[in-house]
Amino acid sequence: MPLKIIGTGSALPELVVTNKKLEQMMDTTDEWIRSRTGIRQRHIAVKETTTSMAAAAAGRAMKEAGVEPSEIDLIIVGTVSGDKHFPSTACEIQRELLMVNAVAFDVNAACAGFLFGLTIADAYFQSGRAKTALIVGAETLSKMVDWKDRGTCVLFGDGAGAAVVRKEETGILHMVQGSDGGRGEALTCENRPVNTPFTRESFARGELQNEISYLKMDGQAVFRFAVRTVPQAILQVLKEAKISPDEVKYFVLHQANIRIIEAVAKKIGQPMEKFPTNLQKCGNISAASVPILLDHVNKDGKLQRGDKIVLAGFGAGLTWGAAVLTW
Ligand code: COA
Repeated sequence: MPLKIIGTGSALPELVVTNKKLEQMMDTTDEWIRSRTGIRQRHIAVKETTTSMAAAAAGRAMKEAGVEPSEIDLIIVGTVSGDKHFPSTACEIQRELLMVNAVAFDVNAACAGFLFGLTIADAYFQSGRAKTALIVGAETLSKMVDWKDRGTCVLFGDGAGAAVVRKEETGILHMVQGSDGGRGEALTCENRPVNTPFTRESFARGELQNEISYLKMDGQAVFRFAVRTVPQAILQVLKEAKISPDEVKYFVLHQANIRIIEAVAKKIGQPMEKFPTNLQKCGNISAASVPILLDHVNKDGKLQRGDKIVLAGFGAGLTWGAAVLTW
C-alpha cells in the first residue's frame, strides 16, 4: 500500500476532571471507575471545540512532517461530535489552516474513524487523486453524554489526534475494516427529531424545541463485540500481510477500557507491554483515541524507523478497522 505516516500531532483540553471530582458530582467512586475501566481522569473541553483541537493537532502533525498547508490535497476528519452539522470539521480546519488545495470531508465511523480515514486516503492515493493527506480524529464527547447517566459519562473524554500521510512505497502494509449495522443499537446517539408543522402537532404547541438526545450504550454488548471482533481483525490483518504477531512492536488500540485491551492481548498471545495505553489519563475519545495514542508513543521516542505497528479501532455502527504498518 503506497501510504506512509510522516508526522503526528495531538491536542487535549486544558481542564482535567479526575474520578475524585466525579465522586463529588454523582453517585460513583474512583474505585468503581478504575476497576471497571482503568480510567483515572479525562480532559474536558471548556474553551476548546472539536474544530480548535482538530486544527491544533493537525498543525502539530504538519510541523513534524515538514509539510506546508498548501501541500495537503486531502483532509479527512473522523468525528461524531463536530461543532456544526455543516460545514464539516474537515472544511472548518481547511479554512483555519489555509489548506487551500485540499478536498475535505468528515467520516462518521465513530471510534474506528481514524482507521476508516486511512483506508479512504489509501484509495485516493491508489487512484492517483491525492498524494499528501491529513487524517484527523477529533471529538468533544462531553457534549454527547448525559451527565446524569453515571454508566456512560464517566467513560469519555475530549481531544484530537492527527497524522500526515504521504504516498510512498513503504509504510502501511495492509488494512482491514468492517461494519455490522445489525448490531448498531448497542451504542447510539439520536439526532434532533423531525419537528415540522407537517409531522407533529407538538410543533404548533412549541414543544420539543429543546429535545436533546444523549449517547446511549449497552455496555456489556459493546464489551462482548470488542473482545471478539478486535482480536479477529488484528489476526486477519497480520495474516494477510504475512506478519507474525511476535514481529509487532506495539499494538495501538482504541482506548475504551483496559479490560478490553487485556482480553485482546490474551487472545492474540502477546504481552501487555506491547499495548501502550493512555486511557488512564484521557478516557475514551472515540475517533481521536488511536491518533492521540500514536502521537504520544511517537513523541515519547518509542518508535524507530522500521518498527512494525498495529493500529486498531472499534465502536458505534458497529464498525471496526485494523492496520499494520512499518514506521
Ligand atoms: N459508578 C458506580 N456504579 C456504576 C457506575 C458508576 N459510574 N455505572 C454503573 N454502575 C453500576 C450499575 O448501576 C450496576 O449496578 P446494579 O448492579 O446495582 O444494577 C453495576 O454498576 C454494574 O453495571 P454494569 O453496566 O453491569 O457494569 P459492567 O461490569 O458491564 O461495566 C462498563 C460497565 C460500561 C464499564 C462495561 O460494560 C464496558 O466497559 N463496556 C464497554 C463499553 C465501551 O467500551 N464503550 C465504548 C466502545 S467504543
